[in-house]
Amino acid sequence: MAFEKILTRYTNIPNYTGTIDEYIAHGGYQALPKALRELQPADLIETVKRSGLRGRGGAGFPCGVKWGFIPKDSPKAKYLVCNCDESEPGTFKDRMLIEEEPHQLIEGLIISSYAIGCRLAFIYCRGEFVYGAQVLERALREAYGRGFLGRNILGSGFDLDVHVHRGAGAYICGEETGLLESLEGKRGQPRMKPPFPAISGLYRSPTVVNNVETLSNIPHIVLRGAEWFASIGPPKSAGPRLFSVSGHVERPGNYELPMSITLRELIFDHAGGIPNGRRLKAVIPGGSSAPVLTEQHLDVPMDFESLAAAGSMGGSGGVIVMNDTVCMVRVGEIVSRFYHHESCGQCTQCREGTAWLHKVLRRIEHGQGRKEDLDVLLDMCDNMKGKTICVLSDAAAMPIESYLKHFREEFEIHIRGRACPFEGKGAF
Ligand SMILES: Cc1cc2nc3c(=O)[nH]c(=O)nc-3n(C[C@H](O)[C@H](O)[C@H](O)COP(=O)(O)O)c2cc1C
Ligand code: SF4
Repeated sequence: MAFEKILTRYTNIPNYTGTIDEYIAHGGYQALPKALRELQPADLIETVKRSGLRGRGGAGFPCGVKWGFIPKDSPKAKYLVCNCDESEPGTFKDRMLIEEEPHQLIEGLIISSYAIGCRLAFIYCRGEFVYGAQVLERALREAYGRGFLGRNILGSGFDLDVHVHRGAGAYICGEETGLLESLEGKRGQPRMKPPFPAISGLYRSPTVVNNVETLSNIPHIVLRGAEWFASIGPPKSAGPRLFSVSGHVERPGNYELPMSITLRELIFDHAGGIPNGRRLKAVIPGGSSAPVLTEQHLDVPMDFESLAAAGSMGGSGGVIVMNDTVCMVRVGEIVSRFYHHESCGQCTQCREGTAWLHKVLRRIEHGQGRKEDLDVLLDMCDNMKGKTICVLSDAAAMPIESYLKHFREEFEIHIRGRACPFEGKGAF
């Protein structure tokens, strides 16, 4: 079903609109009756654990393990919240999934709710996803109409309601506790952890937050088995993953591949290589929070462990490719401006650190850098990591450290020459 289909999505199913009839015609809603009739919730959690599915939202946490943290004896309501905030720069696969494959997500959401004992679930949708939210609303109405949602689903005695909630376009509302605050109608500011959402989440009740792509994998795991899923890709990074490839490539887009794929294969075989005969300079492999890699890392596989060993991370799966016209100081200026704008302001290190990073990088890029600025930048990054309520602060510091690690000379040239050497050369 979707594994093969997503691979060929843009080529041979031009008129696919994501309706329930089309989804069912492609084998959809077969996993749901199987789960409800043949599997107890505990069996489902075990199956997902055995599959090795790791969260696709950023942290790569094992999905079945997270579900297992929900206390079974708690008298409180349990909630499942689907994270469809997708604001990480360079990432655009959840948007594709909700717009084109809404029922795959909804089927995954229903099965996952059954597994954790949830009777009311939410899809938290990024504010800008106006069309995607409409598609989801329509798909939910269709699912209610066929008896896949509501009371006594398929005669199983299991009840579930699902609501779409639209955010207002804040990156920090993708962080799961910022998201929960926002869903409760408050300002989207992350909470101190512990307690984690599995113990005290939405309305202080046990809650699982899972990414769109994570949940979209569930029907396939139920239908084809944990072993099938685990057999795809490396053992610790099982299953297919959607990579959003953008930047200087011939064919930008979403590519669903096993995580054993190398950066070289992804960029050159699948995305068509770098246009106009230019050279690859840098690649961000997991959204803008991920440290940058270079040509020397082209043979690194795209699994969680290998990318970490190479000094970066799989993150959100957003792969940003840059050719040799790109100025890394300018990239730093742009990335730091984003994090400064998106910091929620609760923690001094993040609020002030992101502002100072942006200020110093801007002055270097604009020919006003000082000799001591590079050490100042590294010192600031050091002070921003591991000290705050959420990891946005780390996410702002790590990329800048990596640009300095791999491209320090470029920063020095800016300072010595009192100008950007790429200026006026059609550079990014
Ligand atoms: C600043 C920040 C932004 C985040 N944005 C998103 C996001 O847009 N979508 C998402 O799924 N996860 C995002 N995450 C990760 C979530 O906090 C959480 O780990 C994830 O939704 C869990 O789902 P998963 O286990 O299925 O990956 C973000 C984390 C941080 C720190
Ligand atoms: S690290 Fe930044 S975004 Fe996260 S809670 Fe603190 S101030 Fe807010």
